[in-house]
Amino acid sequence: MLHSIVFLCCVSLPFSLLRSQELADDAQRAKDTRTVETLLRLKSIDPNTNPKLSSAVSRYLKTVEGTDRYLDVVEQLKFKAAAEGICELAIEQFATPLGVQATRVLLKLDGSSRFLEVLETGSTEEKVAVVHLFGSVGNRLCCETLAEIIMSDKSAPVVRQAAVAALLKSPPGKEVIEEALESDNFPATLRITTAAAVTQLSDTAFKNSVAKYLKLPETADAQPLPPLEELMTARGNLELGEKMFLEKGTCSKCHVIGTEGKEVGPNLSEIGSKLSREAMYVSILDPSAAVSHNFETYYAELFDGEVVTGILTSESPDEVTIKTADAVLRKLPRDDIDLIEKQKLSLMPEGLQKNMTADELISLVEYLLTLKKKPE
Ligand code: HEC
Repeated sequence: MLHSIVFLCCVSLPFSLLRSQELADDAQRAKDTRTVETLLRLKSIDPNTNPKLSSAVSRYLKTVEGTDRYLDVVEQLKFKAAAEGICELAIEQFATPLGVQATRVLLKLDGSSRFLEVLETGSTEEKVAVVHLFGSVGNRLCCETLAEIIMSDKSAPVVRQAAVAALLKSPPGKEVIEEALESDNFPATLRITTAAAVTQLSDTAFKNSVAKYLKLPETADAQPLPPLEELMTARGNLELGEKMFLEKGTCSKCHVIGTEGKEVGPNLSEIGSKLSREAMYVSILDPSAAVSHNFETYYAELFDGEVVTGILTSESPDEVTIKTADAVLRKLPRDDIDLIEKQKLSLMPEGLQKNMTADELISLVEYLLTLKKKPE
């Protein structure tokens, strides 16, 4: 009954009443615009401390949300009540000039505390967005924050890798990277992704000065691999590559291609459609740089002292199944498990290139790149 009354009221609201509401809104908008224009000219009045002016500015800002004008007004009026909205705008638009401008405005208005909070408690996507924004702003403060992210292993690998890429965008950021490399403090787990990111730069002077720190690991003949840049242009032999996968590379102990191999890690039958040449090298040389989803390593300690590590393949309320590196399925009753935790390191061992020469590795990558999804 109540429902239909409300409904009736709504539909029968006289047209003139609606119209007069619209007019009132228009009038309010015009008034707010005038207020804002006045405040922008009379720099002596601070809307932050006057509730009435503050509401007028807030109402005005709503009408220009997500635009340059919005940022411009907030910046000029130093309007602190908009800080939250600007932070959201920056993260949402992190890849656009508007997002970067929002970041600059917020840093000036309110310091970095909000962004630091996102870096502490936000989702991984939000953290990567802030890292990206800090790289675009590229001032000392932002670079210091990014350096902290790189140097501590508290953050997820993707966030740390994004921080490397972000630092490489600005001169102070590059300095930070170079200093860390020089002082030998640079985290080993980021070396190969950093080498990969550096090859993308056009700044040859910087590339040359960091090259000596970013040498790739050694291969079978105790020679270091040529720089990634050279690997990227080198081409290999498909037959030799396939042989590497099956034999010296030991890849087929953990990966399936077609009907060959054991499935501990992801099936690689279509890997050429997923990874670029560069990503393929990084996956092989530095497996823990970006561990594929669903293939994280778990470490379990049983009450009898036994330790089991491997990929978690399934779990139920009373049992956990782990596939070990030699493709054995271990069913562990929960009652037997003292401790189980996810590891940061991939189950795929690093240093597999040591079984091969540079040419053999190049051929292996060449072969993997040909493994494409069949057209439907
Ligand atoms: C002991 C087992 C093991 C061996 C040996 C191994 N891998 Fe892996 N590999 C894994 C696991 C587990 C993952 C998934 C976790 C990760 O991404 O690091 C993986 C991931 C990968 C990926 C990324 C796949 C994707 O979908 O993103 C590539 C490419 C790869 N391996 C190639 C190789 C090659 C080439 C070799 C041989 C030189 C090799 N692997 C040897 C276990 C292994």
